[in-house]
Amino acid sequence: MQYLETLFSLKNKTALVTGGTGVLGRALCSSLARAGASVVIVGRRKEAAEQLALEIVNSGGRAIGISADVLDKEQLVAANKRVLQEFGSLDILVNGAGGNLPGAIITPDKTIFDLDMEDFKRVVDLNLTGSVLPTQVFGQTMAANKQGVIINISSMTALRPLTRVLGYGAAKAAISNFTQWLAVEMAKKFGEGIRVNAIAPGFFLTEQNRNLLTKPDGSLTERGELIVQQTPYGRFGAPEELCGTLLWLCSDASKFVSGIVVPVDGGFSAFGGI
Ligand SMILES: NC(=O)c1ccc[n+]([C@@H]2O[C@H](COP(=O)([O-])OP(=O)(O)OC[C@H]3O[C@@H](n4cnc5c(N)ncnc54)[C@H](O)[C@@H]3O)[C@@H](O)[C@H]2O)c1
Repeated sequence: MQYLETLFSLKNKTALVTGGTGVLGRALCSSLARAGASVVIVGRRKEAAEQLALEIVNSGGRAIGISADVLDKEQLVAANKRVLQEFGSLDILVNGAGGNLPGAIITPDKTIFDLDMEDFKRVVDLNLTGSVLPTQVFGQTMAANKQGVIINISSMTALRPLTRVLGYGAAKAAISNFTQWLAVEMAKKFGEGIRVNAIAPGFFLTEQNRNLLTKPDGSLTERGELIVQQTPYGRFGAPEELCGTLLWLCSDASKFVSGIVVPVDGGFSAFGGI
């Protein structure tokens, strides 16, 4: 037991999660705290970030909430300053902020020619730039220390393009590419102490996909049904089911692992459909 605890421990580590107040982000923040890390929850809504930090502190962990937009460099720089003042260092960055917009989705009654370019750009910006920019700001401490872990959040649609979600799919495919690129960049220029990996969640019911997957009465849409049918486990994932993979990738248990994208998907990516 002692061996496992040491191998997966995040004691004396500081972890920052963007989008930390989202449905998946909350579960990730709690598990990092339970593994011993001090957690910095970054969200756009200050009260929500502080509330989650309080919940973690009340259950015996260490956490602070900071408000920052992942597309606003000034706010990220200010957040970084606060982290360093508060905890002295930063060891783990989870780029969790992301999402979709209606105009970047091509519904069955529409075609590529109806794409709203402004929404398309916004979705690519949020999911891609919204991971690159925080990496630039928060990664500097890691580069200086030659030590750190960066986790990006990709998607099933990066592995095999899903219908409808054009902008989101393009951005998440770019996130998988960025993960591999950055893993090489960090290892070559700053050494093996900095590892970069991604998690590709299957389907989890959250705010960003609720309208795509469920009807107002809570029953599944046609797309929701299809996804469940094509997930060998026959269900959506629970946010907590991402946490074991996160802790593995954040800890010394994955010391020789960099540049991979791990599906956590109830078998979705392995299934050929029949
Ligand atoms: N839910 C799924 O099935 C699923 C599948 C694959 C990938 N993902 C990814 O997981 C991550 C978490 O999403 P979720 O499903 O928990 O959705 P969510 O909507 O509950 O959480 C997303 C969070 O990102 C935050 N956010 C959005 N724009 C931001 C900005 N500009 N600056 C800072 N924060 C911002 C939101 O406020 C929210 O807290 C996202 O990257 C998402 O794309 C989710």
